[in-house]
Amino acid sequence: MIILGIETSCDETAAAVVDDEGVIRGELVLSQIEAHRPFGGVVPEIAARNHVAHLDRLIVETMDEAGATFPELDCVAATAGPGLIGGLLVGVMTAKAIAAVHALPFLAINHLEAHALVPRMLAPIAFPYLVLLISGGHCQLLIANGVGSYSRLGTTIDDAVGEAFDKTAKMLGLDYPGGPAIEAAACGGDPARFKLPRPLINRAGADFSFSGLKTAVRHTIHRLPDAPTATDAKDIAAAFQIAVGDVLCNRTANAMQMFSERTGKMTGNLVVAGGVAANQYLGDRLKQTASDAGFQVVVPPPALCTDNAAMIAWAGIERRRAGFSGDPLDTIALARWPLDPVSARPGAKA
Ligand code: KG4
Ligand code: ZN
Repeated sequence: MIILGIETSCDETAAAVVDDEGVIRGELVLSQIEAHRPFGGVVPEIAARNHVAHLDRLIVETMDEAGATFPELDCVAATAGPGLIGGLLVGVMTAKAIAAVHALPFLAINHLEAHALVPRMLAPIAFPYLVLLISGGHCQLLIANGVGSYSRLGTTIDDAVGEAFDKTAKMLGLDYPGGPAIEAAACGGDPARFKLPRPLINRAGADFSFSGLKTAVRHTIHRLPDAPTATDAKDIAAAFQIAVGDVLCNRTANAMQMFSERTGKMTGNLVVAGGVAANQYLGDRLKQTASDAGFQVVVPPPALCTDNAAMIAWAGIERRRAGFSGDPLDTIALARWPLDPVSARPGAKA
């Protein structure tokens, strides 16, 4: 079985051809970072226009690299949500067109499910497992019970953690995207010089909140006599990163307990996915928290943690294997599409 996957939900235009043994036969990811850098964040309109400009060529080149022709595909899978609607429409319409022309099944993939399932492309990780999804658009903890079956334990009540990294970096005059810039700046910074809050820490449940932390960073910067110096930026970045680490570890510790209560399993795998999972400091903290609770952390390699199309194709493989034949061609893209049992699949009536 080989599947073409298409990802256009945010600022990466990506295509990949993956087989059912988890081999990536061809893959291209075009980052739009340069297009959004002047704005310090993703501009939805610019993102959608870039997807339109590049997706067709990217798919042709990916198919060439894979040495595959469209009729040889088992099906075409595209991210149908959640994400920026303009970009989602570009990917979904392109996938539907290929599927219609070549009489192939079309699969509408949930981007969150793709992040959650991709570690299984590399190793036989058995269900159920716990997923911490930390990216620019999402911050949630869920149990992956099986393909198409997820229980959300907690989510952010305001900003995503990656967004907090990006906004903090912008306030400090650091580069975009903010995550890697903050991580680099925090190295050698004094985390004790500034006090920052840890929203929701030690509260029951596994929800997150980051807007108060972001506001506290803004106030800290405003209290400085001048614009932040390089040393100020390093110290604030260090304080911010530790605060995020404390919050993520505290919420994840609660989620591991909830996982054990719900599944009866006292140990398990904690999959950490999304762009923020590339952060070495946070990864080390989470490993420690997990091992204290008898859990093992699984972090996919960075190229599979950040947005990519191999994970979309792989989610397609998993869905086909689980018996899903395909989605109708009048399936719509959804900007909001929560990943839990009560959320409906996107469909004609959605
Ligand atoms: O998963 P992703 O590529 O795109 C989505 O948001 O879906 O994640 C991008 C986010 C950005 O907010 C970026 O700043 C953050 O991941 N990020 C990091 C690091 N590398 C990327 N955050 C913290 N530390 C990093 N090293
Ligand atoms: Zn993502």
